Amino acid sequence: MSDMIYRPRRLRVSRLLRDMVAETTLKPAGMIQPYFVCEGKGIKGEIPSMPGIFRESPDSLARSLADDMKLGIKRIMLFGVPDRKDAKASSALGDDAVVNVAIKMLRDKFGEDIFIAADVCLCAYTDSGHCGVITDDKIDNDSSLPILAEMATGLAKVGCDCVAPSDMMDGRVGAIRDALDDAGFEDTLIMAYSAKYASAYYGPFRDAADSAPAHGDRKTYQMDFRNRREAIKEVALDIEEGTDIVMIKPALAYLDVIADVQSQFAVPVAAYNVSGEFTIVKMMAERGYAEEKQLVLENLTAITRAGADVILTYHLRDILKHGWLDG
Ligand code: PBG
Ligand code: ZN
Repeated sequence: MSDMIYRPRRLRVSRLLRDMVAETTLKPAGMIQPYFVCEGKGIKGEIPSMPGIFRESPDSLARSLADDMKLGIKRIMLFGVPDRKDAKASSALGDDAVVNVAIKMLRDKFGEDIFIAADVCLCAYTDSGHCGVITDDKIDNDSSLPILAEMATGLAKVGCDCVAPSDMMDGRVGAIRDALDDAGFEDTLIMAYSAKYASAYYGPFRDAADSAPAHGDRKTYQMDFRNRREAIKEVALDIEEGTDIVMIKPALAYLDVIADVQSQFAVPVAAYNVSGEFTIVKMMAERGYAEEKQLVLENLTAITRAGADVILTYHLRDILKHGWLDG
């Protein structure tokens, strides 16, 4: 007879039992699928660095989304890929801005059946490829704020539910909240990329959005990945300035940060499972090193377990298409 009292394996004996005592459950309602919108008509091209993810014109996006909504996608995040870039990011502003055109079309077609978030940043629209405008060879924080605020109100005006500033300029959440309120958009949500790190995992995205900086890097505005407590400061400031949801980005290499923020603040926490994290999974699966479903569920469960309420992930369409969360 064994004198062992504790046998943790007893709780793992069967599938039914394991499911009964599982601490974490993934919910599609907490997941947002990103899309890239380019100018033109009838355009849809796969992004070479991101298998199964496309750049498409607004009309094509409306058709793709109709199919995706049948799969169960109801929450999306939009990124613009404009034709024109200049010093002041002017193609991000006005009713002709490509994301504004797309949102108007989607709102007319799908009404309240779709939750639309949109990225607010200048890097896809500036000729420098930086997230703020440049004065005297420096990223000009304060001159970037009114442009970001105008971009956000323009999005709200065409029916965007949620603006997501990803530029990491100081004070942008406050500037955007003020501008939205002044324009009568008190109910437009802000989901700030609060702790956004300067990461090599954005590589495939910059290819997709054509937003790589022409010179230099983003280390003077995005966070240094050696820092953990600094994320608390960034999140606290964004909450003070009026963000409704805070985001940590990337997700997988920053689970400690997600856990810290989740335990210290009473706001919903989002995590961005970024392009590089997505492409690694795709490449491993393609080479037969692991099953895609297993990798995706392990990654997204880890992000949820760490404390994320909301996950932005390029995997959502595959999850729903293949029924990876069913049973
Ligand atoms: C724009 C922006 C980026 C991402 C989201 N918004 C790229 C960057 O900061 O260089 C990355 C998303 C991804 O990698 O999936 N500032
Ligand atoms: Zn940017």
